[in-house]
Amino acid sequence: MKTILITGINKGLGKELFNKLVDKGYFVFGLLRNEETYKELLKNKPKNVELILADISNDNCIIEINKIVKDTTIDLVINNAGIGGEGMNLESANSKEIIDLINVHCLGVLRVMKSISPNLIQNNKTTVINLNSRLGSITHQSIGTFKNLDVSYSYRIAKASQNMLTNCLRLEFEGINFVSLTPGKLKTALAQVDANLSPSESAQRIIEHWELEKFENTNGILEVPNKIMEW
Ligand SMILES: NC(=O)c1ccc[n+]([C@@H]2O[C@H](COP(=O)([O-])OP(=O)(O)OC[C@H]3O[C@@H](n4cnc5c(N)ncnc54)[C@H](OP(=O)(O)O)[C@@H]3O)[C@@H](O)[C@H]2O)c1
Repeated sequence: MKTILITGINKGLGKELFNKLVDKGYFVFGLLRNEETYKELLKNKPKNVELILADISNDNCIIEINKIVKDTTIDLVINNAGIGGEGMNLESANSKEIIDLINVHCLGVLRVMKSISPNLIQNNKTTVINLNSRLGSITHQSIGTFKNLDVSYSYRIAKASQNMLTNCLRLEFEGINFVSLTPGKLKTALAQVDANLSPSESAQRIIEHWELEKFENTNGILEVPNKIMEW
């Protein structure tokens, strides 16, 4: 049975991915920071689920993840947890918000990877999906592709920094597939005005793509099945 670790399962895309993967019978480690949901989920936890109560914005999560995952081999990692920002221009952008978003989108992924890198399988057998965004593309932001969308400085900066981390990891761990993925324009808490896709449909597409073993190291930001945006 293949084993998956996914972060941010309390709502949105992460919740959809988690529920669908569990229903399909995979063994799933689901990470969430919400204690109430954690307690609720524990009550009827299926055998193929382990829950990790942790906040990826804090180094403690490295230990919390290790405690639960131990030496289990992991076939798929989905670094999904994310937050939005509010400061849309220089005046409203502020250091705290930018630090907070980098702390989740970039350092959160770094912490998860520090925790589980020994559990991944070489020879491109493990895939690591880092949830990114069209809005994290420096190429497209530099030419103004999305200038009509209200997007915070913090979100753009944090997703671009996550892409650099993804590239650092790709170079260090050559035998692992690293994918920077944009899930489409989702109707979730982080939705843009042009959102047109339910998180359930997006989750379905991502899972199908993985089950067909179509994820491979991608030089750019992938939207399944085959659209690649420049970094
Ligand atoms: N929505 C879109 O159109 C869109 C487009 C491109 C990319 N994305 C990316 O896709 C991912 C999922 O987005 P979404 O729309 O599903 O967002 P969402 O509905 O806001 O859900 C985000 C999830 O991440 C969790 N989370 C945030 N910070 C965390 C932390 N420090 N530790 C643990 N969990 C944390 C949240 O937990 P709580 O519930 O406890 O807050 C929540 O469960 C994000 O990385 C996002 O940037 C989204």
